[in-house]
Amino acid sequence: MMLDAAKRLLTPSRRSDVPPFIVMDVMAAAAKREAEGAHVIHMEVGQPAAPAPQTAIRAAQAVLAAGRISYTETLGIPPLRAAIARHYADTYDLALDPGRVVVTTGSSGGFILAFLSLFEAGDRVALANPGYPPYRHILSALGCQPVLIGTSTETRWALTGKALIAEHRKKPLQGAVVASPANPTGTMMEADALARLIAVAEAEGIRVISDEIYHGLDYAFPAETAANLSERAVIINSFSKYFCMTGWRVGWMVVPENLVRTVERLQGNLAISVPTLAQVAAQAAFDGKAEMEEVKHGYEQNRRILTEGLPKAGLDQFLPVDGAFYLYANIARFSDDSLDFAKRMLNEAGVAATPGIDFDPIDGRHFLRFCYAGSAEEMHEAVERIGNWLKQRG
Ligand SMILES: Cc1ncc(COP(=O)(O)O)c(C=O)c1O
Repeated sequence: MMLDAAKRLLTPSRRSDVPPFIVMDVMAAAAKREAEGAHVIHMEVGQPAAPAPQTAIRAAQAVLAAGRISYTETLGIPPLRAAIARHYADTYDLALDPGRVVVTTGSSGGFILAFLSLFEAGDRVALANPGYPPYRHILSALGCQPVLIGTSTETRWALTGKALIAEHRKKPLQGAVVASPANPTGTMMEADALARLIAVAEAEGIRVISDEIYHGLDYAFPAETAANLSERAVIINSFSKYFCMTGWRVGWMVVPENLVRTVERLQGNLAISVPTLAQVAAQAAFDGKAEMEEVKHGYEQNRRILTEGLPKAGLDQFLPVDGAFYLYANIARFSDDSLDFAKRMLNEAGVAATPGIDFDPIDGRHFLRFCYAGSAEEMHEAVERIGNWLKQRG
């Protein structure tokens, strides 16, 4: 009995037992290589190299100079919610009620609020595989059941209504997360594919959550917001990627009107409010779009360098490079073990990328994700190093 009691005091909950991000291992190995004097090209971490817009930084400095930083309204400061609503009018031609906008602690905070407000413990939520790992880890920590649905070239690496319904007929689903552009694939859904998926899901009572964090970083065709397709979908977005504000931890949701008060009660209890400094900076970030468009042009150039250069270097199989800043390459021709391949490429070529096993427990051993948010020089150098390395391997 005593032993049982002592064990309980030392044992974390079963639901907290979520896997770590394997990319962290690659980052640690890259840092070690650098400490030894090597020059590593970092393509493993999915974040912009550029700083936040100057407008955002200046606004934050003004708040700091004023001194007092207090709590804000739980749903976010009204001028930021209004600016976000205006962003929908400017970008998607959608008249959005600012009352449906909720400011969150990055999109990560938005997922917790969305999953808690939509799902019961035990609910089944469909996710595209490969996909962003925290979707499944947050769901399982909350007692929900992530249901991975395989994607392929035929489905343009996205969830489809057909696959969703096939899974739903096996055992009912209560939710589905869609992402376009997606991480790790960098692929996007055409507006009509997204519309069809949402229509099919909602007809079956399946709640749709649309992760739109990479909106603004679309190169193949314009990204459509689910807010234009349904008033019942929950939209998650963030200042982290397009606005280069990862560390500021600020994002937003667009929620159906009947969910606003629920989310407000949840966020009020979980966090009171989102950091004030970050909210003020985020509001001013919308005035820095010209600066961010320059950054985006850099990604477009990097995308060209890789899509033209990597096939010549020997990596000639990758998914459509539609958006975000990711290229997802198939390395099955070279290896059955993407973690080992990534480690070797780091140690022998000095290029760090993320093994697909982080994103895909089924076939990730055959893929590597390259992030192209760095400089054009780094992209050229990476292509050259990978080419030489693959040649040496024969
Ligand atoms: C697809 C996707 N969604 C959400 C996030 C979380 O971003 P944040 O919490 O910084 O908004 C990331 C971060 O890499 C991501 O790739």
